[in-house]
Amino acid sequence: MAATDPLACVFWAPGRVNLIGEHTDYSGGLVLPVALDVGVTVRVTRLGRRLRVTSPDGDAQRYAEAVAAELAGRGFLVVGVEAEVSTTLPIGAGLSSSAALGVALALALTTVSGETLDALELAGVAQRAETRATGVPCGIMDQAASILGRVGDAVLLDTGSLHFEHVRLPTDHAIVVVDSGVRRRLEHSAYAARRAELERGLAGSRDPVAQRRVRHVRTENERVREVVQILRSTPVETSRLGAIFREAHESLRVDYEVSTPELDELVELAYAHGASAARMTGAGFGGSIVALVPAERASRFTDDIVAAYSGTATARIGRAAAGACER
Ligand code: GLA
Repeated sequence: MAATDPLACVFWAPGRVNLIGEHTDYSGGLVLPVALDVGVTVRVTRLGRRLRVTSPDGDAQRYAEAVAAELAGRGFLVVGVEAEVSTTLPIGAGLSSSAALGVALALALTTVSGETLDALELAGVAQRAETRATGVPCGIMDQAASILGRVGDAVLLDTGSLHFEHVRLPTDHAIVVVDSGVRRRLEHSAYAARRAELERGLAGSRDPVAQRRVRHVRTENERVREVVQILRSTPVETSRLGAIFREAHESLRVDYEVSTPELDELVELAYAHGASAARMTGAGFGGSIVALVPAERASRFTDDIVAAYSGTATARIGRAAAGACER
């Protein structure tokens, strides 16, 4: 194990984009995220008594302490480390930069402490550490995607049973992520309020808001199933995918109320510029949209959508990549 040579201890965890299954992962629903080839690197430079983790934005220390506390809570003897964090992920763009950080730190701290956890246990540690560090009662999707990612595949995860399968992505389409430039942090958003409203609805409240939140989740779980079925048939019926992604966006806009005018504009522009399917992705309240674009058109699409958008957007072609590892 690399712990005897700390200077060579480098851990990597990717960000993710979610194809479909939004705000379903805190009520045991289905999600279909893709790990990306951008992410967070944790470089352990020294082992010792203290835990000191530095990052350009200064946020890593509180995540590291939260991860260490979660691991200690499981009875692990966590070794102190000095570590540096670097990232190729845009922060606050809805690509799970904080989940990638948590996963990379959880992997680093368990490995140098000589402990092992299976993939979904590690995801659970990182998920709870995120809640501990930020107060956001997030689900497990982002951390699970960051660990379970596989080149060329999406991850279908049942967040209730934690059963997962990989689903091959069509090679004739590119995944394009368009960042609206509207920055948000989940602790400042209505994420926790949405979760509470959904839970009220699931507990039987007749309040129309709570009912709308429940309707979103029920229909969204159905859409995940349909999308997986479409991706698994040949040829992939992309017009059907487009219709389902549109419904998903509408459901997030109207029933879950997490979209923004900027995300709505980008989704419309995506279809107008040749995307087969597009919708907002991640928690919402800002961040990004995801679009499936015919591969030969993808590079032109990224230029066109950025030029047509009323604000300042950044468009990237995302590659479905492998999950977290020691490098
Ligand atoms: C954030 C959370 C996830 C999930 C999504 C919405 O990314 O961290 O757990 O709830 O929002 O689907």
